[in-house]
Amino acid sequence: MRYLTAGESHGKALTTILEGFPAGVEIDPNYINKQLRRRQSGYGRGGRMKIEKDKVNILSGIRGGYSLGSPIAMQIENKDWENWKEIMEPEVQNYNEALAKEKEITKPRPGHADLTGALKYNHCDMRNVLERASARETATRVAIGALSKIFLAELNIFVVGHVVAIGKEKLKEEKYFNLEIGEIEQRASQSQVMCVDSGISTRMISYIDEVKGKGDSLGGIVEVIVAGVPPGIGSYVQWDKKLDANISAAVMSIQAVKGVEIGAGFSSANSLGSLIHDEIDYDNELGMFTRKTNRAGGIEGGMSNGEQIRVRAAMKPIPTLYKPLKSVDLRDKKAFPASVERSDCCAVPSCAVVAEAVVAWEVAKALTEKFSNDNMEDIKDNLENYIKRIKQV
Ligand SMILES: Cc1cc2nc3c(=O)[nH]c(=O)nc-3n(C[C@H](O)[C@H](O)[C@H](O)COP(=O)(O)O)c2cc1C
Repeated sequence: MRYLTAGESHGKALTTILEGFPAGVEIDPNYINKQLRRRQSGYGRGGRMKIEKDKVNILSGIRGGYSLGSPIAMQIENKDWENWKEIMEPEVQNYNEALAKEKEITKPRPGHADLTGALKYNHCDMRNVLERASARETATRVAIGALSKIFLAELNIFVVGHVVAIGKEKLKEEKYFNLEIGEIEQRASQSQVMCVDSGISTRMISYIDEVKGKGDSLGGIVEVIVAGVPPGIGSYVQWDKKLDANISAAVMSIQAVKGVEIGAGFSSANSLGSLIHDEIDYDNELGMFTRKTNRAGGIEGGMSNGEQIRVRAAMKPIPTLYKPLKSVDLRDKKAFPASVERSDCCAVPSCAVVAEAVVAWEVAKALTEKFSNDNMEDIKDNLENYIKRIKQV
């Protein structure tokens, strides 16, 4: 399976084409829209999210509610396009050059793609960079993730993202490590910051208010858990087949993510081997090998090992600040303070939804590589036969 996305932040629409999605999967667009809404909500988002009410428009690949196995094209309109069409218009006859010139951006914002993008692509107007570098693009990835989650649920595989930390406010591991995935999903959905602990949610919200009041911004840590993955997804035989590598790349590709860890991750570096590796057990009832602990985060040797996959991502604080940072104008090379009128102060809850989507995609992709991607019935049979065989080992 593969997909590409297209679209500018204030262009007409965001578009994606997904190829290789199996036939015979029942698709409810309302479910995709629900995931899009989750990405848009979350305490700390700015004015843009009040304008956009994302809704998917499926253009191909689904007929009568079922996937056909042909490419699925999806579109999400940008409602803000109405306010920008004169300067974002693709066709020259409808393009307002004078207005575009007036709105030209020559002042790069620190922490953004603006400056290097302008140098690389030879743009004088940095709008040509920021329109595509913007995290608005993640809406299409959430739509792809929604399809992936529908597919995975058919195989009893469930994916959930939640917020572990916002700035200094951090969830204690013992408060969620033993929770069932369904409970994590339910608790996170009840929190405005997607945190499973209501007390810590309240603290996170007041911290966001405090920091926003000072014109500053916040980052944090999100976690994605995948339950029900059979052992043996991904492979050790080649670098680009490793599941941990592919998941990490997908999560790292999310705007503002600066660190990814799987399982104990960075903390394993200062632990002892005897305290970090998960001892192997055998569950007679299940007829399956299990692990007594899950510090590996469900992946060993680039393959799922049958335990829950646990991935964490560190998101940097939002770079556009009300409180100005120093920068230099691209044209006249004069210093100026970079500030802005409209931006998110904290997008960590949205990042959890995007991370959930991209992890769901990588797991779905790796599953279809092992069990085929032609149609749902074959995939279910292949998975069942595989489980039968590994139980006989
Ligand atoms: C869901 C989401 C929303 C974001 N919203 C904003 C925003 O409102 N303002 C902003 O300056 N950056 C925002 N960002 C982060 C920037 O897009 C990102 O930092 C920038 O494109 C530079 O990329 P890099 O941080 O990956 O290097 C957001 C990121 C995500 C994941």
